Amino acid sequence: MTQLTGQPLTEVNIAELDTELSSKSPQQILARALDLYDNIAISFSGAEDVVLIDMASKIRKDIKIFSLDTGRLHPETYQFLDRVRKHYGLAIEVMYPDAAQVEALVKAKGLFSFYEDGHKECCDIRKVAPLRRKLATLDAWITGQRKDQNPSTRAAVPIVQVDSAFSTDSHTLVKFNPLSNWTSAEVWMYIRAYEVPYNPLHERGFVSIGCEPCTRPVLPNQHEREGRWWWEDAGKKECGLHIMNQTQD
Ligand code: ADX
Ligand code: SF4
Repeated sequence: MTQLTGQPLTEVNIAELDTELSSKSPQQILARALDLYDNIAISFSGAEDVVLIDMASKIRKDIKIFSLDTGRLHPETYQFLDRVRKHYGLAIEVMYPDAAQVEALVKAKGLFSFYEDGHKECCDIRKVAPLRRKLATLDAWITGQRKDQNPSTRAAVPIVQVDSAFSTDSHTLVKFNPLSNWTSAEVWMYIRAYEVPYNPLHERGFVSIGCEPCTRPVLPNQHEREGRWWWEDAGKKECGLHIMNQTQD
Protein backbone atom coordinates (compact mmCIF):
# COMPACT_ATOMS: atom_id res chain seq x y z
CA MET A 1 0.00 0.00 0.00
CA THR A 2 1.02 3.66 -0.31
CA GLN A 3 3.18 5.23 2.39
CA LEU A 4 0.79 6.71 4.92
CA THR A 5 3.10 8.28 7.47
CA GLY A 6 2.40 11.96 7.99
CA GLN A 7 -0.90 11.94 6.08
CA PRO A 8 -4.34 12.09 7.67
CA LEU A 9 -5.87 8.64 7.12
CA THR A 10 -9.21 8.28 5.39
CA GLU A 11 -11.69 5.45 5.89
CA VAL A 12 -10.43 3.85 2.65
CA ASN A 13 -6.81 4.01 3.81
CA ILE A 14 -7.82 2.43 7.09
CA ALA A 15 -9.52 -0.47 5.30
CA GLU A 16 -6.31 -0.96 3.25
CA LEU A 17 -4.23 -0.76 6.40
CA ASP A 18 -6.45 -3.37 8.05
CA THR A 19 -5.86 -5.74 5.13
CA GLU A 20 -2.12 -5.05 5.25
CA LEU A 21 -1.93 -5.72 8.99
CA SER A 22 -4.27 -8.71 9.15
CA SER A 23 -1.46 -11.24 8.81
CA LYS A 24 1.02 -9.34 11.01
CA SER A 25 2.05 -10.04 14.60
CA PRO A 26 0.79 -7.79 17.42
CA GLN A 27 4.30 -6.34 17.70
CA GLN A 28 4.34 -5.43 13.99
CA ILE A 29 0.85 -3.94 14.28
CA LEU A 30 1.85 -1.86 17.29
CA ALA A 31 5.03 -0.68 15.55
CA ARG A 32 2.95 0.48 12.57
CA ALA A 33 0.39 2.20 14.82
CA LEU A 34 3.08 4.02 16.80
CA ASP A 35 4.84 5.00 13.60
CA LEU A 36 1.65 6.42 12.08
CA TYR A 37 0.44 8.27 15.16
CA ASP A 38 2.19 10.29 17.86
CA ASN A 39 -1.03 11.22 19.62
CA ILE A 40 -2.04 7.63 20.39
CA ALA A 41 -2.68 5.88 23.72
CA ILE A 42 -3.25 2.39 25.11
CA SER A 43 -6.52 1.90 26.97
CA PHE A 44 -5.53 -0.18 29.97
CA SER A 45 -7.42 -2.36 32.40
CA GLY A 46 -6.63 -6.04 31.99
CA ALA A 47 -4.20 -8.81 31.08
CA GLU A 48 -4.27 -8.12 27.33
CA ASP A 49 -3.48 -4.45 27.88
CA VAL A 50 -0.33 -5.14 29.89
CA VAL A 51 0.85 -7.38 27.07
CA LEU A 52 0.35 -4.39 24.75
CA ILE A 53 2.18 -2.09 27.19
CA ASP A 54 5.05 -4.59 27.40
CA MET A 55 5.31 -4.85 23.60
CA ALA A 56 4.89 -1.11 23.01
CA SER A 57 7.47 -0.13 25.63
CA LYS A 58 10.01 -2.23 23.70
CA ILE A 59 9.25 -0.20 20.58
CA ARG A 60 9.02 3.33 22.01
CA LYS A 61 9.75 4.75 25.45
CA ASP A 62 7.11 7.49 25.54
CA ILE A 63 3.97 5.35 25.43
CA LYS A 64 0.75 7.06 26.54
CA ILE A 65 -1.56 4.97 28.72
CA PHE A 66 -4.92 5.75 30.26
CA SER A 67 -7.34 3.83 32.45
CA LEU A 68 -10.97 4.40 33.44
CA ASP A 69 -11.54 4.25 37.18
CA THR A 70 -15.25 3.65 37.62
CA GLY A 71 -14.99 3.85 41.40
CA ARG A 72 -16.22 0.25 41.55
CA LEU A 73 -13.04 -1.73 40.75
CA HIS A 74 -11.66 -4.49 42.98
CA PRO A 75 -8.91 -3.46 45.44
CA GLU A 76 -6.66 -5.95 43.61
CA THR A 77 -7.24 -4.08 40.35
CA TYR A 78 -6.15 -0.77 41.88
CA GLN A 79 -3.00 -2.44 43.23
CA PHE A 80 -2.38 -4.01 39.83
CA LEU A 81 -2.67 -0.63 38.05
CA ASP A 82 -0.05 0.82 40.33
CA ARG A 83 2.20 -2.20 39.98
CA VAL A 84 2.14 -1.82 36.20
CA ARG A 85 2.93 1.90 36.54
CA LYS A 86 6.01 1.16 38.65
CA HIS A 87 7.12 -1.92 36.69
CA TYR A 88 7.31 -0.03 33.38
CA GLY A 89 8.15 3.39 34.84
CA LEU A 90 5.30 4.87 32.79
CA ALA A 91 2.63 7.36 33.85
CA ILE A 92 -0.93 6.05 33.70
CA GLU A 93 -3.55 8.74 33.26
CA VAL A 94 -6.58 7.72 35.31
CA MET A 95 -9.92 9.10 34.16
CA TYR A 96 -12.78 9.58 36.65
CA PRO A 97 -16.53 9.93 36.14
CA ASP A 98 -18.35 13.21 36.67
CA ALA A 99 -19.11 13.38 40.41
CA ALA A 100 -22.48 15.13 39.95
CA GLN A 101 -23.70 12.44 37.54
CA VAL A 102 -22.65 9.62 39.87
CA GLU A 103 -24.31 11.37 42.82
CA ALA A 104 -27.56 11.86 40.90
CA LEU A 105 -27.67 8.21 39.80
CA VAL A 106 -26.94 6.86 43.28
CA LYS A 107 -29.46 9.23 44.87
CA ALA A 108 -32.19 8.22 42.42
CA LYS A 109 -31.53 4.49 42.18
CA GLY A 110 -29.02 3.39 44.82
CA LEU A 111 -25.67 1.72 44.37
CA PHE A 112 -26.79 -1.44 42.56
CA SER A 113 -29.37 -0.26 40.01
CA PHE A 114 -27.61 -2.27 37.26
CA TYR A 115 -28.96 -5.54 38.73
CA GLU A 116 -32.51 -4.20 38.29
CA ASP A 117 -32.55 -2.20 35.08
CA GLY A 118 -29.34 -3.20 33.28
CA HIS A 119 -25.78 -1.94 33.24
CA LYS A 120 -26.10 0.68 30.50
CA GLU A 121 -26.96 3.72 32.63
CA CYS A 122 -24.20 3.14 35.17
CA CYS A 123 -21.61 2.21 32.50
CA ASP A 124 -22.52 5.31 30.49
CA ILE A 125 -21.76 7.52 33.48
CA ARG A 126 -18.81 5.68 34.99
CA LYS A 127 -17.03 4.46 31.85
CA VAL A 128 -18.29 5.83 28.55
CA ALA A 129 -18.44 9.55 29.40
CA PRO A 130 -14.88 9.63 30.82
CA LEU A 131 -13.70 7.60 27.81
CA ARG A 132 -15.37 10.06 25.42
CA ARG A 133 -13.61 12.92 27.22
CA LYS A 134 -10.24 11.20 26.84
CA LEU A 135 -10.72 10.09 23.25
CA ALA A 136 -11.56 13.67 22.20
CA THR A 137 -7.90 14.49 22.92
CA LEU A 138 -6.42 11.62 20.87
CA ASP A 139 -6.00 10.78 17.17
CA ALA A 140 -5.93 7.03 17.79
CA TRP A 141 -6.32 4.53 20.61
CA ILE A 142 -5.18 0.97 21.18
CA THR A 143 -7.32 -1.66 22.92
CA GLY A 144 -6.81 -5.26 24.01
CA GLN A 145 -9.98 -6.58 22.39
CA ARG A 146 -9.80 -10.10 20.96
CA LYS A 147 -12.23 -11.81 18.60
CA ASP A 148 -12.67 -14.84 20.84
CA GLN A 149 -13.54 -12.78 23.93
CA ASN A 150 -17.19 -12.73 22.94
CA PRO A 151 -18.57 -14.81 20.06
CA SER A 152 -21.76 -12.70 20.12
CA THR A 153 -20.19 -9.26 19.87
CA ARG A 154 -16.45 -9.48 19.10
CA ALA A 155 -16.18 -12.14 16.36
CA ALA A 156 -15.49 -9.49 13.71
CA VAL A 157 -13.19 -7.11 15.60
CA PRO A 158 -10.76 -5.77 12.96
CA ILE A 159 -7.08 -4.97 13.52
CA VAL A 160 -7.73 -1.31 12.76
CA GLN A 161 -10.90 0.66 12.16
CA VAL A 162 -12.28 4.16 12.14
CA ASP A 163 -13.98 4.45 15.53
CA SER A 164 -17.41 5.50 14.35
CA ALA A 165 -18.76 5.60 17.92
CA PHE A 166 -16.29 8.22 19.14
CA SER A 167 -15.35 10.12 15.97
CA THR A 168 -17.08 13.44 15.36
CA ASP A 169 -17.66 15.50 12.21
CA SER A 170 -14.47 17.42 12.92
CA HIS A 171 -12.37 14.67 14.48
CA THR A 172 -11.69 11.21 13.04
CA LEU A 173 -10.56 8.75 15.67
CA VAL A 174 -8.80 5.53 14.72
CA LYS A 175 -8.89 2.38 16.86
CA PHE A 176 -6.25 -0.37 16.80
CA ASN A 177 -6.94 -3.86 18.20
CA PRO A 178 -3.52 -5.52 17.77
CA LEU A 179 -4.51 -8.70 19.66
CA SER A 180 -7.71 -9.23 17.69
CA ASN A 181 -6.50 -12.56 16.26
CA TRP A 182 -4.84 -13.82 19.43
CA THR A 183 -6.41 -16.37 21.75
CA SER A 184 -6.46 -16.14 25.51
CA ALA A 185 -3.84 -18.95 25.54
CA GLU A 186 -1.47 -16.83 23.44
CA VAL A 187 -1.94 -13.85 25.75
CA TRP A 188 -1.11 -15.97 28.79
CA MET A 189 1.88 -17.63 27.10
CA TYR A 190 3.28 -14.14 26.50
CA ILE A 191 2.59 -13.06 30.10
CA ARG A 192 4.44 -16.07 31.48
CA ALA A 193 7.31 -15.96 28.97
CA TYR A 194 8.07 -12.27 29.62
CA GLU A 195 7.05 -12.17 33.30
CA VAL A 196 4.45 -9.52 32.63
CA PRO A 197 2.57 -8.34 35.75
CA TYR A 198 -1.03 -9.57 36.02
CA ASN A 199 -4.03 -9.00 38.26
CA PRO A 200 -3.88 -11.46 41.22
CA LEU A 201 -7.64 -12.06 40.78
CA HIS A 202 -6.68 -14.35 37.87
CA GLU A 203 -5.29 -16.76 40.48
CA ARG A 204 -8.81 -16.99 41.96
CA GLY A 205 -10.74 -18.03 38.83
CA PHE A 206 -11.43 -14.59 37.37
CA VAL A 207 -10.71 -14.37 33.65
CA SER A 208 -12.34 -11.23 32.19
CA ILE A 209 -12.25 -8.58 34.92
CA GLY A 210 -14.36 -5.43 35.06
CA CYS A 211 -16.06 -3.72 38.00
CA GLU A 212 -16.35 -5.66 41.25
CA PRO A 213 -20.18 -5.89 41.43
CA CYS A 214 -20.41 -6.91 37.75
CA THR A 215 -17.63 -9.52 37.57
CA ARG A 216 -17.40 -13.02 38.96
CA PRO A 217 -15.05 -15.98 38.52
CA VAL A 218 -15.86 -18.60 35.89
CA LEU A 219 -15.79 -22.38 36.17
CA PRO A 220 -13.37 -24.54 34.14
CA ASN A 221 -14.38 -24.39 30.46
CA GLN A 222 -17.03 -21.76 31.08
CA HIS A 223 -16.57 -18.91 28.58
CA GLU A 224 -14.71 -15.93 30.07
CA ARG A 225 -17.50 -13.52 29.20
CA GLU A 226 -19.94 -15.47 31.40
CA GLY A 227 -18.24 -13.88 34.37
CA ARG A 228 -19.33 -10.38 33.25
CA TRP A 229 -22.89 -9.00 33.77
CA TRP A 230 -24.01 -12.63 34.19
CA TRP A 231 -27.63 -11.63 34.73
CA GLU A 232 -27.88 -10.21 31.16
CA ASP A 233 -28.02 -11.74 27.63
CA ALA A 234 -24.69 -12.54 25.94
CA GLY A 235 -25.43 -10.11 23.07
CA LYS A 236 -25.69 -7.21 25.53
CA LYS A 237 -22.38 -7.80 27.28
CA GLU A 238 -20.72 -4.64 26.00
CA CYS A 239 -20.51 -1.65 28.26
CA GLY A 240 -20.29 1.02 25.58
CA LEU A 241 -16.51 1.33 25.30
CA HIS A 242 -16.75 -0.83 22.20
CA ILE A 243 -20.26 0.09 21.17
CA MET A 244 -19.49 -0.55 17.49
CA ASN A 245 -19.44 -4.26 18.34
CA GLN A 246 -23.10 -4.17 19.27
CA THR A 247 -25.96 -4.85 16.94
CA GLN A 248 -28.53 -3.99 19.61
CA ASP A 249 -28.84 -1.68 22.60
S1 ADX B 1 -15.52 -4.13 28.48
O1 ADX B 1 -16.05 -3.20 27.47
O2 ADX B 1 -16.21 -5.40 28.51
O3 ADX B 1 -15.37 -3.53 29.82
P1 ADX B 1 -13.10 -5.60 28.33
O4 ADX B 1 -12.98 -5.73 29.79
O5 ADX B 1 -13.46 -6.81 27.54
O6 ADX B 1 -14.08 -4.40 27.93
O7 ADX B 1 -11.76 -5.00 27.76
C1 ADX B 1 -11.54 -4.81 26.37
C2 ADX B 1 -10.61 -3.62 26.21
O8 ADX B 1 -11.31 -2.42 26.57
C3 ADX B 1 -9.42 -3.66 27.12
O9 ADX B 1 -8.39 -4.44 26.53
C4 ADX B 1 -9.08 -2.20 27.25
O10 ADX B 1 -8.35 -1.77 26.13
C5 ADX B 1 -10.44 -1.54 27.23
N1 ADX B 1 -10.95 -1.33 28.61
C6 ADX B 1 -11.88 -2.05 29.27
N2 ADX B 1 -12.10 -1.56 30.51
C7 ADX B 1 -11.29 -0.48 30.63
C8 ADX B 1 -11.00 0.46 31.68
N3 ADX B 1 -11.61 0.40 32.85
N4 ADX B 1 -10.07 1.41 31.44
C9 ADX B 1 -9.44 1.49 30.25
N5 ADX B 1 -9.65 0.63 29.24
C10 ADX B 1 -10.56 -0.34 29.41
FE1 SF4 C 1 -21.44 0.29 36.74
FE2 SF4 C 1 -21.17 -2.39 36.61
FE3 SF4 C 1 -20.81 -0.80 34.43
FE4 SF4 C 1 -19.04 -0.82 36.45
S1 SF4 C 1 -19.54 -2.54 35.02
S2 SF4 C 1 -19.77 0.95 35.40
S3 SF4 C 1 -20.41 -1.00 38.25
S4 SF4 C 1 -22.73 -1.19 35.59
